[in-house]
Amino acid sequence: MYSTEEQRALFELSKAYLNPESALHKQSPDQQLAALRRILVYHEYRYYIQNDPVVSDYEYDQLYKQLEALEMAHPELVTPDSPTQRVSADLTSDFPSVEHLVPMLSLANSYNADDLIEFDAQIKRYLNIPEDRDIEYAVEPKFDGGSIAVVYEGGQLVRAATRGNGVMGEEMTNNARAIRSIPLKADFAQFGIHKVELRGEVLIRKDSFEKINKQRAEEGQTLFANARNTATGGLRMKDPQEVAKRGMEAFIYTLGYAVDKDGNDVLSRFSTHAESLDMLAQLGFKVPVGGVERGVFKNIKAVVGFCLDWQEKREQYAYEIDGMVVKVNSRELQERSGSTSHHPRWAIAFKFKAKQATSKLLHVEYQVGKIGSITPVAKIEPVQLAGVTVSSVSLHNEDFIKGKDLRIGDTVLVERAGDVIPYIVKSMEELRDGSELPIEFPKYCPINDTAEPVELIRVAGEAAWRCPTCVCGAQNLQRIIFHASKDAMDIEGLGKAIVERFYELGWLRTIVDVYRLDYDQIAQLEGFGEKSAANLKASVEKAKQNPIYRLLHSLSIHHLGKKVSKILAAEVKHVLDLKSWTLENFTHIKDIGPVVAENIIEFFHNEHNVQLLLEMEALGVNLRQTEDDLPKAASADAPLAGKTILFTGSLQTMSRKEAQAKAEAAGAKNISAVSSNLDILVVGENAGSKLKKARELGTVEVMTEEEFLNLIG
Ligand code: IVH
Repeated sequence: MYSTEEQRALFELSKAYLNPESALHKQSPDQQLAALRRILVYHEYRYYIQNDPVVSDYEYDQLYKQLEALEMAHPELVTPDSPTQRVSADLTSDFPSVEHLVPMLSLANSYNADDLIEFDAQIKRYLNIPEDRDIEYAVEPKFDGGSIAVVYEGGQLVRAATRGNGVMGEEMTNNARAIRSIPLKADFAQFGIHKVELRGEVLIRKDSFEKINKQRAEEGQTLFANARNTATGGLRMKDPQEVAKRGMEAFIYTLGYAVDKDGNDVLSRFSTHAESLDMLAQLGFKVPVGGVERGVFKNIKAVVGFCLDWQEKREQYAYEIDGMVVKVNSRELQERSGSTSHHPRWAIAFKFKAKQATSKLLHVEYQVGKIGSITPVAKIEPVQLAGVTVSSVSLHNEDFIKGKDLRIGDTVLVERAGDVIPYIVKSMEELRDGSELPIEFPKYCPINDTAEPVELIRVAGEAAWRCPTCVCGAQNLQRIIFHASKDAMDIEGLGKAIVERFYELGWLRTIVDVYRLDYDQIAQLEGFGEKSAANLKASVEKAKQNPIYRLLHSLSIHHLGKKVSKILAAEVKHVLDLKSWTLENFTHIKDIGPVVAENIIEFFHNEHNVQLLLEMEALGVNLRQTEDDLPKAASADAPLAGKTILFTGSLQTMSRKEAQAKAEAAGAKNISAVSSNLDILVVGENAGSKLKKARELGTVEVMTEEEFLNLIG
């Protein structure tokens, strides 16, 4: 449909229009309108037809707004084929086209509290409602999947179709039947409804998506980019059995059309949107859970609070959502305000800050981790992503670069996903002009500060290239940072920035130096003083008494995590006992496999390491097993002995980790999902689907954070 040349040109043109400084904004309205329409038609094609957008939703909306504004200023120049004058672009022809009973419109967008307040003011003006009167709103998540319309007649599911261009959709009834959350029968008759069209969104849970991709990786298949594509792609699969395997779900969010046996409109029987969703929930449809996922608010101010709350907690939600939808709750007011050709006037999407954006891959830098793994890091042209400027993105390892065929100079799609770590989704091959350069992974350690270049090694079965040398400054710095960190020796006041500063001053070269710091000198440093120096000294002194599991963990032995360190600590009276250990000694320890065992043996066979530990001991660091290194047998009379427990929602007086540690100390076992195996669910604020599921099961004891604390005493 579009040649590579055209795609590149349209992309460049889009970027130019998005730049407020561009001279293009000074062109004649005619020229600008023609260009913007071409750009938008292209982006709609990429989004709706190919499911593969090349600009973020936010960027698309900015371009759309420019077009709208120009057309508003020059109504005589509006053409019938302008993207503002119809719902969307063409359909693909894979599935038969059907006409929706009423057009499926889009939504207008808003991005912040002011936009929502303006939306409220606008409706009031439109409906002649005084400014100081409140309008009630229903608010629910804006699900990020594939939209569908399902028709029931005489209580039977008779048709399902994708949104298509909003007027015509693609019929996919058999695929819809494979989606278990879409009932095949529903007793609409009890509400006097004979024929009805429901609108909803087909989604895949984020964890199901992970599972699907994991399995695909195991089977050597290409991975899906995100849950949304997996769901929309799923809707178009030819084989409904395959659809069933994807575990897709459908949330219903609106009642589009409803008539009785005589064809009379019965929508007006529902006085509010919330009421119609309640009815659908009652009939067995999956609708956003009342009070948790959706709410009714007495005015726009309360709506803003709910939207901002969800923006904060969206990552914890089981499904991908890209915003909230705010709808005038009263049906009568909805009808009075009506729709434009593009969207209803009574609803608006509150879009969360963009999580995806395009940028240019400028060059790659290589970082050396504490065990010498080389991590390539892409430097990209700075872009705004979910409210932060991103200019560096980890490329993980060489396979990642090869798998995505990334090249210097590529336009890349960057996403800031759940864990807030930015990630390169893909490079946009169609935008290449031939000047891109391959990324040459280095053969030698890029940072090593020894005279001779050190060749990198790659151990079979591992993805990372590693610098094998132990004298590399970069590695040592990382080791010291880790040694002092909360997870390891937990030395308060010796965080990353301070370690780096002391390192630059030459005060820290190895981890032993941590116990040789000169506090008088530190007190003289800018930003320190007597008090902070004394505090630091106190934390170092405290760390010296740590149980040895912390010390073992702090040594940066490859694969020796916190859990294995604890198991190991329980096995030795003195850390240096490990000097004489061989593989034999490890065979009886269930949770320590041969790979870690080898690493431990190698570490303690290295004279340099033994020397470090001896020096540490001479400086007062504890190397002997302590009480805390031995597993505490949870006594049978511990308050939660033998119980399984799960924390959900945000806790007020402690972190999730602390809560889990407390539960464990009280004899409970932390588990991660609500099932019939779960005994106790502790709910913090804004608990969501876990709570709902626990209630449904009926066998789980649900308690508040306070009740939990009282229980463990
Ligand atoms: S209401 C007439 N509610 O967002 C009102 N839409 O940009 C039209 N969407 O195509 C939509 N969650 O696929 C509505 N809770 C929700 C939604 C929702 C997701 C999608 C829908 C629509 C698009 C509009």
